[in-house]
Amino acid sequence: MRAITVLGIETSCDETAAAVVRGRSENGPGDILSNVIFSQLEEHRPYGGVVPEIAARAHVEMLDGIVEQALAASGLGLGEVDAVAATAGPGLIGGVMVGLVTAKALALAAGKPLVAVNHLEAHGLSARLCEAVEFPYLLLLVSGGHCQLLGVEGVGRFRLYGTTIDDAAGEAFDKTAKLLGLEYPGGPRIEILAREGNPKRYALPRPLRGRPGADFSFSGLKTAVRQITLEQKVYPADLAASFQAAVIDILSDRTRAAMAMFVRDFPQCAARRFVMAGGVAANGAIRDALGALCAAEGFVLKVPPAKLCTDNAAMVAWAGVERARLGLFDPLEVAARARWPLCAA
Ligand code: KG4
Ligand code: ZN
Repeated sequence: MRAITVLGIETSCDETAAAVVRGRSENGPGDILSNVIFSQLEEHRPYGGVVPEIAARAHVEMLDGIVEQALAASGLGLGEVDAVAATAGPGLIGGVMVGLVTAKALALAAGKPLVAVNHLEAHGLSARLCEAVEFPYLLLLVSGGHCQLLGVEGVGRFRLYGTTIDDAAGEAFDKTAKLLGLEYPGGPRIEILAREGNPKRYALPRPLRGRPGADFSFSGLKTAVRQITLEQKVYPADLAASFQAAVIDILSDRTRAAMAMFVRDFPQCAARRFVMAGGVAANGAIRDALGALCAAEGFVLKVPPAKLCTDNAAMVAWAGVERARLGLFDPLEVAARARWPLCAA
């Protein structure tokens, strides 16, 4: 395959990011020539969560400089990339518009094609940026806004096995963290606190465990944590550990069900691959548990390093490489989308 180099831009939530990635072989891995990320955590911290208006303004202020840094660090000029890619959704619409409009202007100015990237697809393909992973594979996409199990047959070709019927896994982490008085984003803080806790102190529910299908539910878990904080003496480390253990049980049970669906759908697939992506996949305890599940079920686990699980522009640039390779470019009129499911439920 001819080498393809793409500048990628990510602005769908509270990270302003740009990266340059080169693809040289069909199934990956790619070369990350630069990967610049500015986290707006300080801007949002006083509010305990991401404020869309503040995010959009911060993206406007930061993005040009971040793109310049990414190009400079890659050693390439804009004229030397093959395409410009940006997250075009789903996400906070103001931020997505900032990134997409910037990408359009750069593409137009440099005479390069544009790739409008689905943020979920960027997470879903990120494992192939890190090492060669052939299609098809089973994907657990666990982030702040999404929790899905999908069969991935190729670029833009997903089949849905399960999705959350209420909260996303990352949302459950963030809400539980808030109840424990921890700062946003709560996921990493719960993970650290849980290391010192007793996961058996609190009996928390495992909604939908053992039920047909592979859907998720986390809201009952969050409610149970709230009840405990209202009614009982709280041992924060033990509650964090008990919560994380419940999440692990839910993710493991639903993934096991989806593995059976994947094997049914792809019986000819000799090497069964299981990929995790999204911010929650940065969690070491979750990675370990799903690694053990893979070993038991005959799957091979592929999971990007933690910093490529949480939002970043390298995965957007990589999705751009994958799409550009197939000639999947987008017109400059393409619109930003707040909602953009990978496949219909
Ligand atoms: O993929 P991501 O960076 O942004 C979205 O697209 O949503 O995911 C962010 C989510 C947040 O809910 C955050 O609390 C969670 O991922 N997260 C974690 C960890 N690191 C980030 N959850 C559990 N353990 C972690 N170590
Ligand atoms: Zn994300």
